[in-house]
Amino acid sequence: MARRPLIAGNWKMHGHKSDSFDLVAGLLAKRGNGPFKADLLLCPPATLLDRVGQQIAGSDIWLGAQDCHSAVSGAFTGDIAASMIKDMGASHVIVGHSERRSQHFETDAMVRAKAEAALAAGLSVIVCVGESAEQRAAGQALSVVTAQLKQSLPPGAQSSRVVIAYEPVWAIGSGQTPTLAEVAEVHLALRRLLASEEGAEAAQFRLLYGGSVTPANAVQLLALAEVDGALVGGASLKPESFWAIALASPDITV
Ligand code: PGA
Repeated sequence: MARRPLIAGNWKMHGHKSDSFDLVAGLLAKRGNGPFKADLLLCPPATLLDRVGQQIAGSDIWLGAQDCHSAVSGAFTGDIAASMIKDMGASHVIVGHSERRSQHFETDAMVRAKAEAALAAGLSVIVCVGESAEQRAAGQALSVVTAQLKQSLPPGAQSSRVVIAYEPVWAIGSGQTPTLAEVAEVHLALRRLLASEEGAEAAQFRLLYGGSVTPANAVQLLALAEVDGALVGGASLKPESFWAIALASPDITV
C-alpha cells in the first residue's frame, strides 16, 4: 500500500515576521498550483503560526507547531495548549523532538500525554524518536527507538492522524546521517513494532526520517521502502533547499 510522502519543515527557534514572509512566499512560488507528489507541512515558531497560516491559506501546504502542553489549559506560564495551536489554523504538532526530550527533560510518558492532548484537540501529531550517539555505538539503536515509540505512541493511534519521525539525535544539525542501511533497519523495526501494536493499520503509518536531510541526500533517503518523507530542520529555512527536498520525493500514485 503506497503511502503519500510528507515533507515537514521544522524551523525550530528561527524566523521573524520579515524573513518568514520571504521564505513562505518563495516556497509558494515554487509550489505553484496543481497536484504535487508529496504533502508539505511548515512548523514555524509559535509566534509565527498566525502569520504563516494566513500566508499559506488557499494553498495545500499544512501548518504545524513544534510542541504543545499536555493540559487543556491552566497555570503553565509560557506553555501553549493544543487547542490554541488548533485555534491558529494549524493541523499538526510535533511532539517528543529530541531537543524537547533532552533540553526540557521530556519523558516518553510526557510525550504520549502531549500526543493524546493534541489528538483530543483535533490536531495530527508527529511523534519523534531517536537514539543518541552513545546508544548507537553500544548497539542499542533499535531497542532504544522501539522502546521510545512503544511508550510515546498514544493508545489507539490512527495512521491518518499520527506520523512517526525517526531522528537520530547525533544526526540532527550535525551534517552526519546514518547509512541508508541503518535508516532502513530502524524504519523496518518501527514498522514491525507498529504491526504488533496496531495490526493491519501498521502499513498505513507514515514514517519520516529526520536529521541533516539536504537536497544532496534526500533522493536516496526518500527512496528507501519504509521512509515516507522527511522532517527537515536547517534545510527548511530556505525555500530552495526545502523545495529541492520535496522534489526528491518518489513518485507514488496514491
Ligand atoms: P536538521 O534538523 O535537519 O537541521 O538536522 C532536523 C530536526 O531536528 O527535525
